[in-house]
Amino acid sequence: MGATVNYWPDTKCAKAFWNQHELPPYQELLRDTADWLEPTRGQRWLDLGCGSGQLSRVIWEKSQGLVESVLGVDVAPVNEEAYAKLRTRLQPKPMAMCLRFLARDFSQGFPDWSGDQFDGIVSGLSLQYAESYSEEMGTWTQTAYDRILAETNRLLKPGGVFVFSVNVPDPAWGRVAWVSFLAVFSKSRPFSYLKNAWRMWTYGNWLTRESQRGRFHYLPIEKIVGKLHAAGFVDVEHRTSFAGQAYLIRCRKPTA
Ligand SMILES: C[S@@+](CC[C@H](N)C(=O)[O-])C[C@H]1O[C@@H](n2cnc3c(N)ncnc32)[C@H](O)[C@@H]1O
Repeated sequence: MGATVNYWPDTKCAKAFWNQHELPPYQELLRDTADWLEPTRGQRWLDLGCGSGQLSRVIWEKSQGLVESVLGVDVAPVNEEAYAKLRTRLQPKPMAMCLRFLARDFSQGFPDWSGDQFDGIVSGLSLQYAESYSEEMGTWTQTAYDRILAETNRLLKPGGVFVFSVNVPDPAWGRVAWVSFLAVFSKSRPFSYLKNAWRMWTYGNWLTRESQRGRFHYLPIEKIVGKLHAAGFVDVEHRTSFAGQAYLIRCRKPTA
């Protein structure tokens, strides 16, 4: 299978992305995603590939703490620490069962979970890293990507909403870096900002390389829309964000 190191579960890699929300392109994406989220009282939400929980935070805050629960799932166990911190910072303060973290690999799907259980599922720049390798064909495949889209559909209640972002094909990381670099002048701790940004970029080459060999999936929007329809979603809408380097997509599971 060649060199198949996966940095995502590593503490060092996970922590490098804890400061992603400081970058202007990510702030743009967070704002745009928040605009498309309408969490309300008593709802149950799932955040796939949640990292440090930026989108879970948005759901909690936008609902003014009225959602029943937000569950963040990520392959890096250290993100549990980020969720513990997040719980102490949010207003209103969530009880542990209202904002939970689960370390788990979404590439395998959730065969042990029952369907129709979430009102909404959100995911930020994560699902593109679903990975599956076929020993028989000797290549990386899109099976895990298709599986996680099918799983989101199965896990949503009828009428439930799915809002997610993924990178555009061949993302111009240089553009993201440049826009982020310009913001250094407005930061109160510019060196720490640059150090954090640099830590993230060091993983960029790995992501690009793996996407080029089909392990990770930076797909054209038409292909993603086709996959969403195949997974059973309707009302698919999309726009670009993240300095033009990501698609933000919203769709629904049909009611009947
Ligand atoms: C670019 S970060 C985005 C984090 C977060 N969604 C945010 O918006 O800040 C990608 C996240 O996907 C997670 N991830 C990658 N592959 C995964 C997998 N197979 N299962 C679960 N999480 C995964 C990584 O650990 C990482 O936290």
